[in-house]
This record gives sequence, C-alpha cells and structure tokens, in this order.
Amino acid sequence: MSANLRATAATLCYQVVDQGKSLSDVLPKAQLLFNNPADKALLQEMCFGLMRQLPQLDFVCQQLMSKPLVKQLRPLQFLIYLGIYQLKFLRIPDHAAVGETVEAARYLKGQSMTKLINGVLRSVQRQPELFEFADAPLSVQTNHPSWLVQALQQAYPQQWLEIIAANQQKAPLWLRVNTKRCSVEKFTADLTAMEIGFSQPVPEMPQAILLDKACDVTILPGYVWGFFAVQDLAAQYAAKFLAPENGEFILDACCAPGGKTGHLLELAPEARVLALDKDPARLVRVRENLARLGHEAVIKAADAAEPGQWWDGQLFDRILLDVPCSATGVIRRHPDIRWLRKKPDIAALALLQQQILAAVWPTLKPGGVLLYATCSVLPDENQLQVQRFLDAQPDAQAIPLSASHTASEWQLFPGQAQADGFFYAKLQKKAIA
Ligand SMILES: C[S@@+](CC[C@H](N)C(=O)[O-])C[C@H]1O[C@@H](n2cnc3c(N)ncnc32)[C@H](O)[C@@H]1O
Repeated sequence: MSANLRATAATLCYQVVDQGKSLSDVLPKAQLLFNNPADKALLQEMCFGLMRQLPQLDFVCQQLMSKPLVKQLRPLQFLIYLGIYQLKFLRIPDHAAVGETVEAARYLKGQSMTKLINGVLRSVQRQPELFEFADAPLSVQTNHPSWLVQALQQAYPQQWLEIIAANQQKAPLWLRVNTKRCSVEKFTADLTAMEIGFSQPVPEMPQAILLDKACDVTILPGYVWGFFAVQDLAAQYAAKFLAPENGEFILDACCAPGGKTGHLLELAPEARVLALDKDPARLVRVRENLARLGHEAVIKAADAAEPGQWWDGQLFDRILLDVPCSATGVIRRHPDIRWLRKKPDIAALALLQQQILAAVWPTLKPGGVLLYATCSVLPDENQLQVQRFLDAQPDAQAIPLSASHTASEWQLFPGQAQADGFFYAKLQKKAIA
C-alpha cells in the first residue's frame, strides 16, 4: 500500500506530541515517501500548521467528542485535528478535506472510526462558532503551552503578545553569501537574472539576503559550488560580533550543524578553527556543510564541558559559545518546539550552559573574547546566565558587541528585523596587569 499523505501527517504529529520526536528528524524521512514536490510541501504545511494550532483544534474536538481517542487510536485523534485544520486553514475544498481525511483513517486501521470522523468534520463545517476562543484558557487563545505563556508574560510584560504572535508566523528564508566563493555583487546579479525577488535589508550585513518567497534552495545560483548558506539573519550576527581575525586560534565549542563555523571562516579565512560538538551524528552535517562552502576546520566530537577530553593547553584568541538551549526563539521556524520542551527542561539547560561556560573560560587567553549565544528568549538562559557568570568570575568583563551595537548584550525577539529570536553577550577575559 503506498503512503497516504494525511495518514502520514497524523502519524508524524502523534510522534511529536505523544512520543517527543522532533519534526526536524521525522519529517524529512517521511517526505521521501512522496515523489511529488507538492505532496512533500503539503505534508510539511499540515504538520507545521497542526503544531501551530493544536490547542484550538483540541478545544474544538472537546466540544464535539465525548472523550478523546486514546491508546492505539491516538494517531486517529491527530487525523481528526488535521481534518479540522484543513477545513479552517487550508485552501482545500471542504468536500475533499472531509473525504480524504475519512479515507486516510483506513490507513491508520481506523475503519470503525470513519463515521465519527465524518461527523466531527461535518459539525465543524456547520458550526463556525466553535472557533470562538475569547472565553477559552490562555493556552488555547495563544496556541502555546501554559508554562511558556507564563514565562513570557513574566519576562516581557510589554512584549509577550508580540512574541506569541511572531511564533505563529511562517519564517522567511535568509541566505548568507559565502564571500570566499562568490562576491555579494555577483550573487545578487545572478538572483536578479533568474528573476528571484530579494532584498538586503541590513546595511551593515550586505551578505545577508532575504528572499521575497521561500523556495527550494538547490535551484538558487551556485548551490553546488557553495555560493551561499541558508542562515537566518539573527544567526549571522554571531560571527559579526565575535569578529574573528586571520591568524587567530578560534574555538567554536558547540558547532553543529556548522552554520556559524562557516561564517567565521568567511570573515577570517586564515583563522584556525577548532569546531567541537558532543553529537558525532551532527558532526557529519558540519563536514558536509564546510566541504560545500570550501572551508576547513579541525572537527572533533567532544563534550565542551570536559576540556580534558579535547584541549591541548593552547589558549584561544576567541571563543564562540552557541550553547544548547530551549530554542524558544525559533518557534516560528520549528513550531513543534513548544510541545517538545517542558518546563523542567529550562532549569536543566541553564545548568548545562553554566557548566559549559565555566569549563571553556580557562581555555581563553587573557584579553581574549568569548561570545555567548542562544536562540532562546528566556532570561534564565540569557541575561541571568551571563550575570551569574560575571558575578562568579572576577577576570571576566562585559564589552560592546560591535562598534554599532554598543551594548554588551542583545535580546532579539522573533520577528524583530524579520529575524529569529536570539541572545548575544560578549565577554572579555581581563588582560593580566
Ligand atoms: C544551538 S546548536 C549549535 C548550532 C551551531 N553553532 C550552528 O550555528 O550551526 C547547539 C549544539 O550544541 C551541541 N552540544 C550539546 N551539548 C554539548 C556539549 N556538552 N559539548 C559540546 N556540544 C554540545 C548540540 O549537539 C548542538 O549541536
């Protein structure tokens, strides 16, 4: 039996929400089951959309079903969410959305459920008032888990609603021109010749290209020759703020999949970079990405928190510490993150970040610079983390991020400057008097 698109989407969403699997892992493999690019795109659209609207889809179901489907019927519950999602959010004719969803139930061993599914979907068609959420809990109104809404409200009493709204948007496609392989002028001329709409909205970052419309990047000019990398604007600030120089010895302590490693080597092609990551499987991507871009670094699988495993005693001039984090700044790009992260994860991640920061600090030379980065918007991982470090480390001082960003820290919110949510802090080891 060939794969069924809606049954596959429902199964993937079930795997994320009930089994804690990441869409970044399971979706690309599932897309291989479909030859047609439109089917691959629709599968992603359905999974992303369901992740974005899950509480409201569930709230509607609660009003139409006496109890949710459980145990081996759970994937069928997600199929019902998907049916409702299609009716409300996709430009699929209603009769096709209902008919195809009911048909998909057969692929999930749900023959006995087709009447129920049909009934729920018909009710949704007939009762638009089901989609009124003004009196629903905040988690339903915002489509975010309660703990995250509370954390955002507490941290950002003025901006939390904007952050939530940005998380519901689709992320744009940003590229970074690989200036080692291609000038910005040539790349933009090639885009123009191919009639691909783009802009360069940040004057201080001309290599950062924002495409008007997302597309298959392998058709863009010079993909195979490594003329560009796909990288959000916010991530492109990392190398800019670290400001590596030729001849320097640089540590990229949590490097995979290597997006920022490549950028460091574009700014300082003669720098020596040691790129570490704890996860050997992710280092395969680093090797592939650096090879495509034409960059070289020493790549090691190691725990950054255990320098005894990987450090030979030679001090680094600069360190990029792009630590593992909650990824709460990139929810618009990875809408499943809000369901994968749980409240206790934040304290555990903050502890891990603290351990890594303390462990790599001795490997930095006096006068050397460390850039701490996360794609989180939560203060425990960001401002509070850095403040705790500065309080405990008398030889550390905060310094301006760059000539134009004179603060020592920057919390970017998702959607701000059309970028992802990111945090940067720049620290210098005081030179010995
Ligand atoms: C935010 S990602 C890094 C993204 C990367 N800098 C880039 O720009 O492509 C964090 C990385 O930290 C790695 N990691 C987690 N714990 C680590 C540890 N103790 N030591 C080194 N790497 C670690 C993860 O495997 C993950 O690849």
